[in-house]
Amino acid sequence: MKIRARLGISADGYITTPSGWPAHSADPAFVSGQSHGIREFLETCEAALMGRTTFEPALSNNRWPWPDLNVFVLGSQRPAGTPDHVVTDSDPVQLLEKVRAANRGGDVHLIGGPRTIETYRALGALDSIELVVLPILFGDGMRLTPSLSTEAGLTFERERALPGGSVEIVYAVDKAARAILGHGADWVPASQRAAGA
Ligand SMILES: NC(=O)c1ccc[n+]([C@@H]2O[C@H](COP(=O)([O-])OP(=O)(O)OC[C@H]3O[C@@H](n4cnc5c(N)ncnc54)[C@H](OP(=O)(O)O)[C@@H]3O)[C@@H](O)[C@H]2O)c1
Repeated sequence: MKIRARLGISADGYITTPSGWPAHSADPAFVSGQSHGIREFLETCEAALMGRTTFEPALSNNRWPWPDLNVFVLGSQRPAGTPDHVVTDSDPVQLLEKVRAANRGGDVHLIGGPRTIETYRALGALDSIELVVLPILFGDGMRLTPSLSTEAGLTFERERALPGGSVEIVYAVDKAARAILGHGADWVPASQRAAGA
């Protein structure tokens, strides 16, 4: 199981529009039905993991965004109207244990946003950051940093040109650069400790 953050980002470095919508939602190619490679990406994933802020807009969507994925949400409270099958937890470590316990070998799409990506990076759980650089300028919006620490070490893995003028860039995350949130570098989930792993 790999935990893979994947975000759209404007060519001038914003992951949201000035009004706070995810960057790809403003790209004419996305609006006209192109997927920015997300379909191929999701073929390898069995779960979606995200922060409460990123999750909440889905509750008022006409269409459930993750019909084929197990959904895990990090947040201090379970948002009203959350479907029963969605797993929520206020503790990032406990939620990660639930993700691992449910896992059948597929990858986890860490949808975002930056605070939740940083939370799992700092725990040493984040395997990759995959950016889809969009051919669009916003001039304003939310950046990946500073919520994501600039200490995150990135190693280039691959790139791919996508239809519509976007470019996908995949970086492996340097796990040696992690700043552990209250755990030592050799921390393993309690479930694995109990199993003697
Ligand atoms: N460009 C893209 O592809 C993309 C993808 C995803 C999201 N986004 C954008 O990202 C923005 C949201 O990003 P964000 O970073 O502000 O929010 P977020 O990561 O989606 O959610 C933040 C919330 O998650 C919980 N959380 C995060 N870290 C935690 C920790 N260590 N311990 C406990 N709870 C924790 C907290 O919930 P509580 O407040 O309930 O405690 C926190 O308020 C949205 O505007 C969205 O559109 C863009």
